[in-house]
Amino acid sequence: MSAEYQVHGDVAVITLNNPPVNGLGLATRQGIVDGLGKAQADAGVKAIVITGAGGAFSGGADIKEFGTDKSLAEPNLHTVIAAIEQSAKPVIAAIHSVCMGGGLELALGCHYRVAAPGCSVALPEVKLGLLPGAGGTQRLPRVIGVEAALNMIVSGEAVKSEFIASVPGQKLFDKLAASPESLAEEALAFARSVADTRPLPLVRNLPCKHPQGDAYFQFARNMVKGMAKNFPAPAKCVDAVEAATKNKKFDDGLARERERFINLMWTAESRALRHLFFAERAASKIPDVPADTRKRDVKKVAVIGAGTMGGGIAMNFLNAGIPVVMLETKQEALERGVGTMRKNYEAQVKKGKLKQDKYDQRMALLTTTLDYADLKDADLVIEAVFEDMGVKEQVFKKLDEVMKPGAILASNTSTLDLNQIASFTKRPQDVVGLHFFSPANVMKLLEVVRGDATAHDVLATVMAVAKKIKKTAVVSGVCDGFIGNRMIEQYGRQAGFLLDEGCTPSQVDKAIEKFGFAMGPFRMGDLAGNDIGWAIRKRRAVEKPGMKYSKTADLLCERGRFGQKVGKGWYDYVAGKRDAIPNAEVEQMVAEHRQSLGITPRKISDEEIVQRLVYSLVNEAAHILEEGIANKASDIDVVYIFGYGFPVHRGGPLNYANEVGLFSVAQAMKRFAQNPQDDASFWQPAPLIERLVAEGKGF
Ligand code: 3HC
Ligand code: NAI
Repeated sequence: MSAEYQVHGDVAVITLNNPPVNGLGLATRQGIVDGLGKAQADAGVKAIVITGAGGAFSGGADIKEFGTDKSLAEPNLHTVIAAIEQSAKPVIAAIHSVCMGGGLELALGCHYRVAAPGCSVALPEVKLGLLPGAGGTQRLPRVIGVEAALNMIVSGEAVKSEFIASVPGQKLFDKLAASPESLAEEALAFARSVADTRPLPLVRNLPCKHPQGDAYFQFARNMVKGMAKNFPAPAKCVDAVEAATKNKKFDDGLARERERFINLMWTAESRALRHLFFAERAASKIPDVPADTRKRDVKKVAVIGAGTMGGGIAMNFLNAGIPVVMLETKQEALERGVGTMRKNYEAQVKKGKLKQDKYDQRMALLTTTLDYADLKDADLVIEAVFEDMGVKEQVFKKLDEVMKPGAILASNTSTLDLNQIASFTKRPQDVVGLHFFSPANVMKLLEVVRGDATAHDVLATVMAVAKKIKKTAVVSGVCDGFIGNRMIEQYGRQAGFLLDEGCTPSQVDKAIEKFGFAMGPFRMGDLAGNDIGWAIRKRRAVEKPGMKYSKTADLLCERGRFGQKVGKGWYDYVAGKRDAIPNAEVEQMVAEHRQSLGITPRKISDEEIVQRLVYSLVNEAAHILEEGIANKASDIDVVYIFGYGFPVHRGGPLNYANEVGLFSVAQAMKRFAQNPQDDASFWQPAPLIERLVAEGKGF
């Protein structure tokens, strides 16, 4: 049963009980309607309180039901709210902890609302590509005003109950309880105090107007257009709230809201966001590491190397209030690294994003050293020295000597074999990869690299640490490039072949940016430094001599065009600006190389560019899944959304492939395999794709 019914004297209490957040699934909705029925039938009951068990009043509709028959089945949320409004006895919502989406809409349907302080109140549907679909757009403006309501609906952000209660004139809460602990008692007392009040107040009967209606909604529309270019929901939120101010009949506004909600539910954008909601949460779950695995304490962290990555990594921990000791080989390197960290923080202070005292507190948690002996009390050490196996060997041997037993030894390597690194120690079970992305204090993604020997409690601990420092962690097995970079290499190869066949760098970038990528491959190369890929290809030429690449990127590097850091790469850059200006010399270089290969340039459509770039990611991902490097398809989507700027509204490469249909994706791959300028062997669809196509399934 997912709603409980109890009678306390003359007050009936209906308690939603559908863990983890009392989502309003079918059984819960039915439970509320049943409870209301019992309360109406019991002459001894004078008032009804609705509340939630555990850590939430309600987190809203049960998202797991979306897309299933249960989601719209009767009693739907409209029917439940109508039953509350029509109750002959007053219904009081006793709200605490989390009151969101359909949960808030349910509360707005009640005659009265008593809230505990500290409760997060939100209509977050827009974050799932939806609008509130059970009266939220019609009722919230009536209790907190049109502008405040529209801000909450369009942003989806939570507001604290005590803040709302402090706003003069608000009608959302009839009472703010003294504390979460006293809510139940105060709600019962409140229910008794209104038991005989008639007529019962309804939010639907309150007026809803904006003094400068047309001008205000025009302004709001312009704002959301700029902010949410790939998503239809925010504009629909504005339409729905405007309708609340214009419709003469409340139920007309409700009906239009419902229609818009159902239409949005079927959009690819909403499916993508719902997929990512669960994907992000699923990423932290590792199949063979139970959720109750005991974690090690991480109270102090050591970072080796104060370069580009070391400084950023250290900042994450300082921001979370965890002390860091940073080790380098030379005092100058330490000073340079700490200077960069200070500069980063100072920029945040200047922009008003960080208070001076917070900055001071964070820096006070940092110590520096040249001596390994100073690391011995750290619980976790993260190595971020040069990407060179010899240097890593020296460092890990030293760490093995000095670190206390049970300390976790992590490497930030982006390409080296973690198992080999672990073998430099006598405690490979304590070694793990923590692959941060640059800039490490900004990028949300963290690839956790699991070595053959990595212990379960080490994995459980670093996943928890990742959450503490606000990273989205995904587990990867050991292979060259792990999940993200292994896939991006194929994408980069395709970008090169496209140049050889007739594209210019800006044509490729524009096509994929129109698809929604934050940055095309050539602008990305210029930002990251083209010399990095150059070094990797040189190494590859030794390790994997058969791999086919376009030579254009090497030719570019031979001209010293390393990217933004030198003011020139695939594009030109003006100092202090990030605009990519196409360069005729580069285009000439590409054309000459093409000629040297004897290729007659052809016109390549944007569609082909996008398919080749995105499907190259998809095919490599399928191999990665099959080899067990990634645990699940959704993990790969999380890597690409949080680490590589893949368009959020497409839900990641594998969600996108599912949307297109794997049959079409495989057909396209087979077509690309026929292209003599491309790599036919790469374009054989991965066996996993062939199998899924044969079974009519998606990833
Ligand atoms: N339905 C089903 N499951 C939900 C859920 C929901 N509405 N909200 C959260 N969950 C689940 C999560 O999937 C997760 O499950 P797991 O433990 O199996 O992974 C668990 O609850 C805990 O979630 P979090 O890890 O996010 O826990 P937090 O404590 O950090 O956050 C929360 C709790 C603030 C409620 C957050 O989960 C959240 O923002 N949830 C989404 C709320 C939302 O979008 N509601 C609107 C739904 S649409 C709607 O109501 C339509 C209506 O207008 C008609
Ligand atoms: P970097 O060159 O900026 O910094 C490396 C630092 O390590 C230097 O300050 C150097 O003095 C120090 N160092 C070298 N040997 C040392 C030793 N024996 N003991 C202590 N300190 C030593 O390099 P970067 O870019 O910070 O890379 C570090 C690691 O992070 C590499 O393994 C790299 O592959 C990885 N990485 C880099 C990313 C990037 O975008 N730069 C992204 C993800 C991972």
